[in-house]
Order: sequence, then structure tokens, then C-alpha cells
Amino acid sequence: MAEQSDLFSAPAPAAPALVATKVEALRAQLNAWAHQYYVQDAPSVPDAEYDRAFQQLQALEGAYPGLVTPDSPTQRVIGAVMDGLTPVRHRVPMLSIRTETDTEATGAEAFDARIRRELKLAPEAPPVEYVAEPKFDGLAMSLRYEAGRLVQAATRGDGEVGEDVTHNIRTIRQIPLALADAPPVLEVRGEVYMRRADFDALNERQREQGGKTFVNPRNAAAGAVRQLDSGIAAQRPLSFFAYGLGEVEGAEFATHFEVLEKLKAWGFPVAAQASIAQGAPELIAFHQRIGAQRDQLPYDIDGVVYKVNSLALQKQLGFVTREPRWAVAHKYPAQEMMTRVEGIDVQVGRTGKLTPVARLAPVFVGGVTVTNATLHNLFELRRKKVRVGDQVIVRRAGDVIPEVVGVVPAPREAYVPNFRMPAQCPICGSAVVREPGEVSHRCSGGLFCPAQRKQAVLHFAQRRAMDVEGLGEKLVDQLIDGDVIRTLPDLFRLGLPALAGLDRMAEKSAQNVLDALEQSKRTTLPRFLFGLGIRHVGEATAKDLARHFGALDAIMDASVDQLLQVNDVGPVVAQSIHTFFAQPHHREVVAQLRACGVAWEEGAPVEGATLPLAGKTIVLTGTLPTLGRDEAKDLLEAAGAKVAGSVSKKTYCVVAGAEAGSKLDKAQALGIPVLDEDGLRALLQGQLPGGAASS
Ligand code: IVH
Repeated sequence: MAEQSDLFSAPAPAAPALVATKVEALRAQLNAWAHQYYVQDAPSVPDAEYDRAFQQLQALEGAYPGLVTPDSPTQRVIGAVMDGLTPVRHRVPMLSIRTETDTEATGAEAFDARIRRELKLAPEAPPVEYVAEPKFDGLAMSLRYEAGRLVQAATRGDGEVGEDVTHNIRTIRQIPLALADAPPVLEVRGEVYMRRADFDALNERQREQGGKTFVNPRNAAAGAVRQLDSGIAAQRPLSFFAYGLGEVEGAEFATHFEVLEKLKAWGFPVAAQASIAQGAPELIAFHQRIGAQRDQLPYDIDGVVYKVNSLALQKQLGFVTREPRWAVAHKYPAQEMMTRVEGIDVQVGRTGKLTPVARLAPVFVGGVTVTNATLHNLFELRRKKVRVGDQVIVRRAGDVIPEVVGVVPAPREAYVPNFRMPAQCPICGSAVVREPGEVSHRCSGGLFCPAQRKQAVLHFAQRRAMDVEGLGEKLVDQLIDGDVIRTLPDLFRLGLPALAGLDRMAEKSAQNVLDALEQSKRTTLPRFLFGLGIRHVGEATAKDLARHFGALDAIMDASVDQLLQVNDVGPVVAQSIHTFFAQPHHREVVAQLRACGVAWEEGAPVEGATLPLAGKTIVLTGTLPTLGRDEAKDLLEAAGAKVAGSVSKKTYCVVAGAEAGSKLDKAQALGIPVLDEDGLRALLQGQLPGGAASS
């Protein structure tokens, strides 16, 4: 590296031993914190603390350039720009995996039967031991460590020759630059990917700036990895999972599972779901279990991988051409499919935003049949050049709304006019406007617009807000279209005759809705606040506001400056809350809702630290006998706890119900207290998970 030889040739003052020790200590501390933050998802110090140590290290290295090492945390983002990517010959080829396309059961059975045949096992011989893992949808990477230092990162390429992308891979915080007690040569194989939330945020940013969006997390990750300028790669948040080894000198392993454990110990992220499976039945169970979790995972997977656990047996099985005989991929339904655009409609959202939506020929994608997909906004639709009649690629991953990610280029049979945004709201006829600097068109009708009123009612009634069971889309359509209700308080003034007179509404179900409305009146301040549908006030902000101010009147009367004091509330959010409550008709709605009997417990402003579970991270897993997951989460958060999705050393305790899976295993392995529902209730009443009462 050219810039480094310059550094070393500069007449640098020799560093006193004390400084060298300090630099080493800072590096060790920063690496430990970064591992907790990026790999374990459990930060142990405030960001400011990390930054201070980082700057101190930077300052010391600046003063004594001789102390700079390529694996120092300060060297992650180098901003090096390459002329082109250099080819790298893999010393151990990077294989691909044969795909089993059969159904759930037959796929695993066919694989297991083949393995037993190849190994010449008698029918009565015990089951073969496998490791089952998720199949990550990213791109394969080989990381080469020599004497414990990351010296090269290469893409798979054709399996024999890949490309050197070390400069970009060094920007991935989850990848250690140095390993403690590593063998002289170690190649770690794994997948570079982008988490869905990071991908969505990246695309959202691109969309806001009118830039090009990425088709899916895999493409976004692949593009980032192959950048010549590591400064660009560093702005595209990438993640990594390790799942195997390439060339190794000076270490021996007996099983694949042992390899995964060792990778974890070295500090690499390894899928928590990876587990040992005995024979086909346990492979099938794994495929089903992961399939059920697929939508909730924070990243895309396209299937699972089964691997023979014993490395001796792997060797015996060997491989055919590029595919090992000891591994197979078992896929899930595709998250991207092709279909035809039958029409383009415009939908009006709760805040009046007009969204062009493609009506599609029905297509099975991501496990469900999809007939509509969002086109986001006019500019994105134009950039993708979507017209009625086109074949398009539709993506549905996780619980998110399906979207059109691109057009399959083909000559059009006839001239099709370009889509145009209507000048008037298709629902209420109010003028459509677009604020300068915004990409979205909006209906200017506000709550005069029935579409916005409907969305406002649905938002208010949803489970996470007022939780009015049975108040769904069909009913709300009728209530608004028939002018049965005009405002939120009208909901609580509904009587049996009005409801029972509606289409497909028997007296019994009408009574059920009335009962649900009655029940919903006893609520909490965060639910009520969230339900009002103030722009930029999601559930988390509603909770923060309630905790900070204690009472609704205090929030309604707060100045922008006072609102800015709230945790995580910035200028845009503060302004939005202030503007909302400055409008007399919003205050009137609140007053009327209260007059109708909507009530919650108010309190004095509470400081986070005084809550019994403040600062504690708790993980929920499995099904509890009576409490729903959301209910349990609400109770814990109200007591100040943070509810996290994964178990780490920082987890205070795990609340486990029926069919708890890997999180429970991990808690037990780490010696973290595990509570059942009764234990949870005791905890909420101030008892420590160990049994003793807290003071
Ligand atoms: S093992 C010999 N494990 O799938 C097997 N691969 O078609 C080598 N992949 O390019 C790979 N998740 O990028 C393995 N848990 C996992 C994987 C995985 C995703 C990718 C990998 C490879 C492709 C194989």
C-alpha cells in the first residue's frame, strides 16, 4: 500500500513504551466495544465514550505514525480508491451448493437417502448427523488471515478466481481485522449481506434525494462490495455471517459445528439458528421452523443449507464438479417474481400522500398471492419506466408491502401513455399538491378527504393503538362512505341500530364491535398518542413522550423547545407535534374523546432511571400461556425495560414460553436467568429474577 510506505518513511519520532502500551490498550478496548455493538447487538458504553477513545487513539497514532498498524480500528475506513479490482486465485476453491427443489419433506429425505447410500449405511444404522443453517441471500466472501491479521478479502468469482475487495471489506465493522490466537493461515468463508432495515433506509434516502434505488438487499450489497472507492462502500451498511473455512494451516477440527463455534469465539457473527440435526426428520423440522420465522428475520434468506457434520465424512463424500456431495440447499418460495401490470391506481394514505399502486395479474411471491404492489411515487415510477401491460418484477420480503422493483424490458405491442399523477384527489376532488423539495404528491383535503378519514380511523383502531377488535377496513369503509361517522369521537357515539343497519352486519357482530369500542376506552397514554396519527409520531416516540411528560395536557401545551428535551425527538418531530396540537380542531377531538370516556392513567413526569427495569434488556421467546407477545412487551417497556430480539451477555433475563427455540438455548448456555409468565409478573412487581425482592 503506497500511502503506508510514505507513512513509515516519514521521520517519525520513536514512541515511548508507555505510549505503545496505551495504544494497544485503546485498540483492545475499542475492538471489544465494537464487537459488543456490531456483532452481539449489545452496546456496553455510550457512543460518546467510544468516540472519545477513538479520537484519543487517532491522536496518539497521529503523533507517532510508527505505531499505526493496518489492523488498528482507525484504519477501517481508508477511502482508498482502486483503478480496478485485482484477480485473486483461491487456494481452496469456493464451491457452490446443489439445490434441492422438492417439497419440504422429500427434499430433506432425498438428500439424507443419497448420503446414506454414498456412505453405504445399513437401513438400521443410526441417523446421520447434520448441521442445518439458514441460506443467506448475499454474496460469498473469503477472508484470509495470516498470523491473525486480515490480509485479503476476495469475492467468489467463478469459484477459482475472484476479485480482491479488501479495501471495502475492511469497512464492515462486524469483520475483525485481527484475531486472537489464530492459526498462521486461516481463510474464513461467509456471506456479506445487507439487513432489510439498512436496505430500506438506504433506498428511502435515495428516493428522498431522487436518486437510483436498489432492487434488493443482495444487489445493493454486491454493488457496494465491488466499489473501487471504499468511501462509497462505507456508506452502504453491510453485514457478515461466517459459515465455513477455506485454506487453514495449523488448526484441526472434527466437525462443522465445532468450526462454527470456533468462528464465534474468534468474534465472527455466526447464525444463531445453526443447529445440529439427526437424520431427515430433524432437517424437515428445521426447514419448517426457519420458514415460519423467515418474514420476521432482519435479513433475507432464500432457503436453508444442510451439511454433514463430520468433517471426516465430508472428506469421504467429496464433491462432483463444483458441488460438494455433503451439502445441499433447500429453498423457500422466491421473494421476487415476474407478472403483468394490469393497471395503475392511486391510493391516498393517512397523511394524504398519493401512492401509485400497480394492479397485477395475481402472482405467488414470498409465500403469498400478491395482486397489488407499490410504485412509491411518481419519480420512481418514471425512473423505472413502468407502464400498463409491462412485465415487471415484484418483490415481497418480510412483512413489508410488495413493491415493483423493475420492468422486464420487452417491446410494447402498442403505444401506452405515460402514467400521470391526477391534479385532483381521486377520492375527494381536492387539489393535489407537492411541496418544494418533496417527492410525494399529497391531497390537500386533510380530514375533509374520506380516504384520509378512513386511514385515520383505521390507524386509531389498530391493535398497537386503541386496539378495537373487529373495526376493520370493510366496516370503516361503510362508516365513512355512508357518513355514519365523520370524526374519531363519533366512533364512541355509535349505537346498535346504526351499526346493525350496515351491510353484512348481524346484530351479534354489531354488539361485538360496540363491546370492543367500550373496552378500548380504558387505554394507555402512549397508545392514545400513537393512535392520534400525528405525523412522525410512531409507537416509540409516543412512549418516550408519555414517559417524559407523564400527562397529555403537558404534551399538548409543550413548546417546541420543551419537546426537544424528549429522548430521540428532533426538530422535525417536535415541530410536527407542536403544529398538531396548535390546531383547535385537534384539541376538540381530544376533548370529545375524553368526554366519551376514553381514559388512561396519568402520572407525574418520570425519569427513565427511576423505573424498576430501566436500563435492563429483556428477551421474549416462545408463546406465553395468557399474555400475548405485544402485551408482554408493553408491560416490560412501561416498567422501563428494553425488549430485544436476540440474547447476549448483556441480556438481563429471558422470558420463555412454549416452543421457545434457540434464544432459550443461548440463554441457558450463557447462564442468563430464564423466567416463565409467573416469573415475568413477579419481575414487574419488583422481584429480581433470582427470587429475592428488589428494594
Ligand atoms: S456453504 C460447499 N453455507 O450459497 C458449500 N453457503 O450456492 C459452500 N450461502 O455462494 C457454501 N448461506 O454464498 C454455505 N449457510 C451457508 C450459506 C451459503 C448462503 C451461499 C454461498 C454460496 C452459495 C452456494
